[in-house]
Parts: sequence; C-alpha cells; structure tokens
Amino acid sequence: MKILMVCLGNICRSPMAEGILSHKATSLHLPVTVDSAGTGNYHVGESPDDRAIATAGKFGVDISGQQARQFTVEDFDRFDHIFVMDTSNRRNVLQLAEREEHRAKVRLMMDVLYPNEEMEVPDPWFGGQEGFVRVFEMLDTACDRFLTDAKDQLKRS
Ligand code: 4NP
Repeated sequence: MKILMVCLGNICRSPMAEGILSHKATSLHLPVTVDSAGTGNYHVGESPDDRAIATAGKFGVDISGQQARQFTVEDFDRFDHIFVMDTSNRRNVLQLAEREEHRAKVRLMMDVLYPNEEMEVPDPWFGGQEGFVRVFEMLDTACDRFLTDAKDQLKRS
C-alpha cells in the first residue's frame, strides 16, 4: 500500500506525517510505503523545518533526511491514498485531479479519526515549538488509527 502525505510547503506537517507513518509501519512489519509532497514549490529541495526535525526526533522519528518536493498529477496514479492536512491543500490537490478515481484517493488526514468533520492539521509554520508538538500528536494518533483500520487488508496483501 502506497501513501502520500500532502501539505503546503512539505517542510512541516507532511514530512512529520511521512516519518510517523513510515516508522510505525516498519515497527509493525506492515507493507506500507510512505512519501510526502507540498502543493507549493517554495521549499523544493529543502530539508524539513528545524522545528519539525527537532520535534519528531524527540519522539524517536528521524525526518532529517527528507527533501521537499512538489505534488504532481502523476502522484494520483502512484499512490493508493493521498492524505491532505487542510482544506486548502485538498482544494489545490483536487484542482489537478483528472478523474473520479483520482478524487476518490484524496482525504483529510484527520478524517481518519473524525470523519466528515472537516478537521484540519493546523499549519505550525508561524508559531513556536509547541505548535509542532501538537501537530505531531495529532498525526501520531491519526496514523495509529489508519494502520489499525488498514491492518487486515495489509496482512492479506
Ligand atoms: P507546511 O508548512 O505546509 O506544513 O510545510 C508551511 C511551510 C512553509 C510555508 C507555509 C506552510 N511558507 O509559506 O513558506
């Protein structure tokens, strides 16, 4: 199963989401590959934000080797699930979708925990370290639930 995490810059939220899900799937020996991308191109080629690296590191997740890239239309075919962090990311991704099969893969990350509530993972960019910790905890809980829900399907694949 291939999962893509998407935010705006691909330097704060989606790199943490990628690191968290990848770390959990590896620990549980589940066949999941995870990548991340940003809808914007401002930070392409950069490492994750220092605050994101530090926060993830405190929780035992190393995201320091990641490099930001921009979401492309080819990602719709390369991934089974595309998790977006907020409704603006969703709008930007859906604008590139060419068919219903593409649109059906796109889901708010927090929808895993709170279906249809339109809950967003807040952008921590303008805040301090505590915003990153809160984002990490939201993503951690959502990724746990995703893997719990997907486990049966994954063991059969
Ligand atoms: P992210 O956070 O979408 O979680 O990676 C942001 C990082 C940078 C910017 C915006 C959001 N920016 O405007 O540069």
